[in-house]
Amino acid sequence: MKAQTETTMQKDQDSPENFQSDVLNGLRHFPKKLFSKYFYDEKGDKLFQQIMNMPEYYLTGCELDIFKNKTQELAESIIANDEPFDLIELGAGDATKSSYLLKYLVGRGADFTYMPIDISGNILSVLQHKFKAELPTLEVVTLQGDYFDMLEKATSISEKRKVVLFLGGNIGNMELDESVHFCRELRRKLHSGDSLIIGFDLKKNPHVILNAYNDAAGITARFNLNLLDRINRQLNADFDLKKFQHYQTYDPISGACRSFLISLEEQQVTISNNRVKFEENEVIAMEISQKFSETDIQSLAAKSGFYIINEIKDSKNWFIDSVWQVI
Ligand code: AVJ
Repeated sequence: MKAQTETTMQKDQDSPENFQSDVLNGLRHFPKKLFSKYFYDEKGDKLFQQIMNMPEYYLTGCELDIFKNKTQELAESIIANDEPFDLIELGAGDATKSSYLLKYLVGRGADFTYMPIDISGNILSVLQHKFKAELPTLEVVTLQGDYFDMLEKATSISEKRKVVLFLGGNIGNMELDESVHFCRELRRKLHSGDSLIIGFDLKKNPHVILNAYNDAAGITARFNLNLLDRINRQLNADFDLKKFQHYQTYDPISGACRSFLISLEEQQVTISNNRVKFEENEVIAMEISQKFSETDIQSLAAKSGFYIINEIKDSKNWFIDSVWQVI
């Protein structure tokens, strides 16, 4: 059976109204903050592509190494006694990494349906065409919308065992308490026997980490500044990008790698008729990219109701895809 259904159930979390209220609330907060999930407009997507191609940004290459070279190990940890399953990918994007696993599973004759979840319907239709051409026997059901809504939807349309992929180190974009909450929510949507492959960027030499986010060419700076530009374009604002400077930190003890924008002078910005004041050297907290030790990962799994069944690292031991099962 080949079911290539496209669901269009969509809760538009990133509606212009939500964007505006998130931005205004964040800038009225002390310290000022913006959500990094808003980095990814069309320009932001392009800048992130450039980041992934930078010599300093090792994360993508490390996880690709795992999916290319440890495919069998990954597959074996999720196949379990050949029962059919649904392979659900949260934020599938172009599925570059997961497609190695998908090809391997198809080649082995595994009985499964691939269910990519993404907020972008455009990305999902591109994915669907790509797999139709490259892996025509793969069953694909795309789910457009919020991760948890779509996970619930996946459970309602199929009773098969679930295997969830959450790759790229995206869990790092949450504060630690938020990541516990996120994993607990995931756990609540899953059932006994279901599993999760989750990618973590590991704590390592602090210079290596800082350089990945403080690149010599200044692409990460542009990636951050692009959010101010997006606010200018979409919320009728007047940020002067020259008056803000990117500042990156990494704390090797907590593992928090954070980016900020610093206001270079005292200034006032107008955002759709709202005025926001900045002191000289006042900061906007932009993004956290949390790094983990293996102990940090164990504690996150335990706190959220999973146990670790396998840990697969790249050849440099810089990144880990941790395989969790519901307790
Ligand atoms: C896409 C969340 C994994 O935090 O490493 C890259 C985003 N930010 N450079 C990361 C990002 C700055 C990236 N993730």
